[in-house]
Amino acid sequence: MSPLSPHGPSPRPPREGAGFSTRAVHSARAPEVDQVSSSVPLYQTSTWRFDRLDDFAAVIEDRRPGHVYGRGYGNPTVSAFETVMADLEGTESAFAFDSGTAAVHAVVTSLAAAGSRIVASRALYGGTWSLFHEVLPRYGIEVTMVDAADPAAVAAALPGARLFYVETIDNPLLSVPDLAALVRVCADAGVPTVIDNTFASPYLCRPAEYGFDYVLHSATKYIGGHSDLLAGVVCCRAEDRVGLRATAVEVGGAISPFEAWLAVRGLATLALRMERHCATAGQVAARLAASPAVARVYYPGLEQHPSHPLARRQLAGFGGMVSVELTGGLEAARRFCEALQLLWIGASLGGSHSLVAHPALTTHRQMAPAARAAQGISDGLVRLSVGLEDAEDVMADINRAVAAVEETLGPARG
Ligand SMILES: Cc1ncc(COP(=O)(O)O)c(C=O)c1O
Repeated sequence: MSPLSPHGPSPRPPREGAGFSTRAVHSARAPEVDQVSSSVPLYQTSTWRFDRLDDFAAVIEDRRPGHVYGRGYGNPTVSAFETVMADLEGTESAFAFDSGTAAVHAVVTSLAAAGSRIVASRALYGGTWSLFHEVLPRYGIEVTMVDAADPAAVAAALPGARLFYVETIDNPLLSVPDLAALVRVCADAGVPTVIDNTFASPYLCRPAEYGFDYVLHSATKYIGGHSDLLAGVVCCRAEDRVGLRATAVEVGGAISPFEAWLAVRGLATLALRMERHCATAGQVAARLAASPAVARVYYPGLEQHPSHPLARRQLAGFGGMVSVELTGGLEAARRFCEALQLLWIGASLGGSHSLVAHPALTTHRQMAPAARAAQGISDGLVRLSVGLEDAEDVMADINRAVAAVEETLGPARG
């Protein structure tokens, strides 16, 4: 059997009279397949067989194609996921990780090293924020945080930086930076650009079309779409993939075949799901904006959102995430979340189930209160991930939670 073709009968079946355990390990036969299956085959294996030692050496040294081992060396199911992601994002290649966090870590550490500095938007997912503030300093990498809405301020921070990092729609206030302007200032400074496209998905935005060098995702979210997998992916040039793969081989963090298989399956319905997420989230945002218990709704589809004009230009839809600041602070946030019945209080986003989170207590708890306040993340802020349930049912649940909070306003305000 060729090391490149795991199908078909083994050329070395167990010898006649082999023991029970030997036959249990070696007698399974996959028949030769000359048709294409509708779903990508799942190669759920960590290792591959070679007939000749020299073939093994050649493949592990990348002198010829083939498969060796699951920790970043490649797997056909993983390749299928990487291929479709590169196609959807419009990049030459992609490399898949076992979480979005591993993807962020690999990009940063493949570009920056001890003694260097990176520049990042101040508005980030809390886990990325703490990776940049707690972990990178231990590696000797300095981070300069900037306001990504101000390309001139970004430009001023760039000289000497190893990369610039930003989110397409930021977490949790859902602002949208000017992608073309950011790429322009980074190109002028010769600084590679990295963008977290998790909240938009490639269906709503393809940052590589603006010139971003590395487009990454927590594929745990919209890419998978069903809250049943954990994965990350970085879409980039083929030459830039080399460093990411080397990081996964040396440090770990490569995706497992089954997670890649689930992600491929999820992508088949990405467009349909995103249409539904966007449509229902738009209704939720409009409803929340009409309540006297609400100080502010953050949704790029609302005209009053500061990023609305950029969102119209850069996004094919306004996304499935809605954040809302309640006038009653933490108590109102608690009341709102606990009145919901269909929407679950829980971590993550982008899946079929609608979820609600409280950034200050959960996703952004790692930030010091002053840093959170500076970013506009108040104790009254609640973040909704609007799922795929019927819009009428989601709206009934939102109405229930709004009523629970409005009740506390009293007759004078209600
Ligand atoms: C925008 C964004 N990027 C990255 C991540 C990290 O992804 P993962 O949880 O798959 O490591 C998250 C997780 O919530 C996220 O919201």
